Order: sequence, then structure tokens, then C-alpha cells
Amino acid sequence: MSRPVLAEDGYEHYMSRVSQSYRLEDLAGLRQEFGRLEQDEYAPVGVRRFRRYGNGVILPWEDKTSHWLPAVEDKAGGWRAGYDQGSNNPDHLSVRYFHALSESVKSNAILRALIEEDFSLTFWSCDGQQLPVYFGVHFVKLTSSGPSDPGISSPNFFHQDGEPFTFAHLIYRSKHMMGGENFIATTGIRNTRLEDAPIDQILARFTLSSTFESFVVHDPKVSHYVSPIIKCDEACEEITERCIILIDFSSTAQRL
Ligand SMILES: [Fe+2]
Repeated sequence: MSRPVLAEDGYEHYMSRVSQSYRLEDLAGLRQEFGRLEQDEYAPVGVRRFRRYGNGVILPWEDKTSHWLPAVEDKAGGWRAGYDQGSNNPDHLSVRYFHALSESVKSNAILRALIEEDFSLTFWSCDGQQLPVYFGVHFVKLTSSGPSDPGISSPNFFHQDGEPFTFAHLIYRSKHMMGGENFIATTGIRNTRLEDAPIDQILARFTLSSTFESFVVHDPKVSHYVSPIIKCDEACEEITERCIILIDFSSTAQRL
């Protein structure tokens, strides 16, 4: 992937470099984490969305590797990581405390490689003193048991995330599934549902189907949307699911 494409178009659909060389046990470690994700307590009633979250900082002047922030303990003795999208997700206007990623997955070689590669593709205006860059990692799994039980992402319309860069990496997509189609559009149709979106405002549409198939958005330039997933063969006993790692990057600032 070349940097100018992302800078000029505001998005790119590509294959992550880690797909060329990785250890199967590391991929199994990622799949194992997806198998353990808790229900997303912020998902609408009836929607089966599962997720964990972790966050950290990269010190751009140092080693460019990820330094995870400690998770916080909740009243039930579980571990949480806070995620604040400001006003960018009308579904959730205050901080959400998601279940935290496990310590073992935070040191997974594939995840660390994805964070490093993604960070290397971002670009920043760098006036004056450099500051840490904040990153957030979401493991998100959607499931569907049939057309009456779609797996729905949040928010369910074209939107911008607020973080300057968001990368999405497919880890697993079941067969017998419809939907989960990604759309990139102009920012002018932010907050518009797919059925109301003027076709000439849609810049790209694609479906992530291979492991480590990816896309990135430069958030100020484009809006994006992913359609619900739907199990299309109800006779099939296998669970229908789509497992995605989202990695976003934001600048940090001193607050006085
Ligand atoms: Fe988004």
C-alpha cells in the first residue's frame, strides 16, 4: 500500500503485510480471543454483538511499538478499557467501558505487527513538540442465526468515527453469510442510511473475505458504513459470524 493513495482518496482497500508471513498459532490466539468476547452491553436489545477493547500509546520518536495502557477493574472484578468517541457516534455520546482485551492477546505477534504496520501508514502534521499517538483496538464479532436475526454494526448508517485513522482487518468470516459489505462515501452523506444514500456519493463498496483483508479510512475525508450480516442458510448448524479487528489512531494534546 502506498501512502499517497490514502492521503489523496481518504481510504484504501488492501491486504495487510502480515498476511505474507505469520505463525498459525498466533492466528489461533486471535481466534481464541474472539471466542471469548463478551456480549457488547451497549448493543441494542436483541443484537448479538460481542467485543473487547484495549488502548495504548505509541511514542513516534522512539521505537514505534505499542505501549498498552492498564485496564481498570470494575465492581464485579472484571477488567475494562474506556472508549470515548466524543460526539461522533450519535448512538453513544458518553464514554463506554468495554471489557478489556486479554493480556495474552495484547502480546500476540500478529496484533503487534498490525498495529505497527497501521501506524506506519498514518501521517500527522508535526508542528513543534511531538506527543504520543493514542491507539485503540477493538475486537468485534457479529453473529446471525438467520434473516430475522441480523448482526448489526454501530452506528447503522454512514458516519465518521472521529479518530483521524481507522483500520479494519478481517480475521474470520463464515460461509453462508450475506452482507457485511463495506461502503465508503463522501462526508456529505454522514448520518444517512444506505437506502437513502445518493449513489453518486458512494465512492467504493467491497466485502472483506480473506483473512487479513483490510481497509483504512482517513476519517476527515470520507464517511463509511458496513451492512448487517445475515446467515443465509438456516439449515447450516455452524455459527455464522464475522470477526474484525479495528485499530484507530488519534493525536494527543496537553490540557491545561
Ligand atoms: Fe465506524
